[in-house]
Amino acid sequence: MLRVLSVASEAVPLVKTGGLADVAGALPAALAPHGVAMTSLLPGYPPVLRALAKPLVAWKFDDLLGHKGRLLAGQLGGQDLLVLDAPALFDREGGPYGDANGRDWPDNWLRFAALSLAAADLAVRQGFDILHAHDWQAGMAPTYLRYRHAGQATPSVMTVHNMAFQGHFGREIFDRLGLPAAAWSIDGVEYHGGVGFLKAGMAAANVITTVSPSYAREIRLPEFGMGLEGLVASRGTQVRGIVNGIDPAEWNPANDGHLAARYTAASLARRRGNKRALEAEFGLESDDGPLFIVVSRLTWQKGMDVLVDVADHLVHSGGRLALLGSGDAGLVAGLSAAAARHPGRIGIRIGYDEALSHRMQAGGDAILVPSRFEPCGLTQLYGLAYGCVPVVARTGGLADTVIDANIAALAAGAATGIQFNSVSAPALADAISRTIALYRQPALWKAIQRAGMKADFTWAGSGALYAQLYRELAGKS
Ligand code: ADP
Ligand code: GLC
Repeated sequence: MLRVLSVASEAVPLVKTGGLADVAGALPAALAPHGVAMTSLLPGYPPVLRALAKPLVAWKFDDLLGHKGRLLAGQLGGQDLLVLDAPALFDREGGPYGDANGRDWPDNWLRFAALSLAAADLAVRQGFDILHAHDWQAGMAPTYLRYRHAGQATPSVMTVHNMAFQGHFGREIFDRLGLPAAAWSIDGVEYHGGVGFLKAGMAAANVITTVSPSYAREIRLPEFGMGLEGLVASRGTQVRGIVNGIDPAEWNPANDGHLAARYTAASLARRRGNKRALEAEFGLESDDGPLFIVVSRLTWQKGMDVLVDVADHLVHSGGRLALLGSGDAGLVAGLSAAAARHPGRIGIRIGYDEALSHRMQAGGDAILVPSRFEPCGLTQLYGLAYGCVPVVARTGGLADTVIDANIAALAAGAATGIQFNSVSAPALADAISRTIALYRQPALWKAIQRAGMKADFTWAGSGALYAQLYRELAGKS
């Protein structure tokens, strides 16, 4: 068995703000069949500590950047979980990154540097074969391995789930990070005169991965690399793309406890019950036209401003829209105004609701994902699995996972969704029109739904790729 320590700032079912949690939560079970025993390390936020039944103390740290901490043992996805119990850093009400009003905690640099230091020390002391760090919050773990354990460092993998979040802090924190002066350099932690956690992790890790092959290529360009494109290019073949999977235990319409009616590709007619329930839940009229859904953070990345611009077109073309999301106040206002203009045709729910997100995938006809960039994207994968046809921008993981319903793909029975090129109001409006035209041809539509449901986006393939990567790095291939 290869022993891998995974460190992330969130993981389902314990704490989630986005797709990182789905991935970090699903990976341990996905890797077990490939001879990888993954131990996950998470911060001891209150809900995580509460979920530990009878925690055993597995390890103690006397000085994590000036704080005491201990590791409590539990289970995640049937595999070992370690929780960093450091009350001064993590025992606070609010979200994992900020207070109830959405303001970032001012000591986030310290919280996540301490998490990373714990991971690096643990990986070396307990002889893990690999350390796998996710996103900027874990970016200092490969850095601590490099500078504090030089010569005996555990090989590390840095996975970038989103280049837009880099963990950039001022120069003044450097002296408190417990790093040697040599780390303050252009190939160390220094980034535009401050400290970059993601940058540092990408510079120090043996291999960088990101969550789709297309995004791995895109981040070589300034538009997607967001300042780190030079570093990405300089790491050459040490930058790989491995697409995310979905957890069939959570996302399977045949046995999803959240649904009014469960179904398979062979019983698609049963979706109607879910559609009617969803219409009622969102106060929408019932008719024969398509019901579009959106489940998303409401941000510029996700193209939600463009969605606001095409809301009228969607309704005038005979569509309806049910949207669940939370995020930018300006976008909430724009979407609320659209819903007010079109009562019975557009319904929105502002907030975070996991169960509702399942009911939407099961009752909606098509899911709109007009992202400007999308490292992988999970909601289109859930759409595929649920027969809720994805309508996606051709970028990153969206481009890699959806097969556009062009004439050739339709003829071959391969089409699984609709792709469009630029994220602009005319392009999205055109994609919506194409979708509605396909929807009005029931046999074709059903074929698209079935092809998507047959596509395999479970973790089987990607789990094997991660396992192979770990073996390569550990010299055990
Ligand atoms: P990102 O991580 O960039 O937000 P992903 O598509 O990878 O995008 O993952 C988003 C995850 O969060 C999915 O599991 C999606 O269903 C979920 N999600 C997003 N917004 C909401 C919401 N308002 N309520 C419930 N689930 C949501
Ligand atoms: C990030 C990305 C998203 C990806 C998720 C999980 O949040 O924005 O595209 O699916 O991480 O890897």
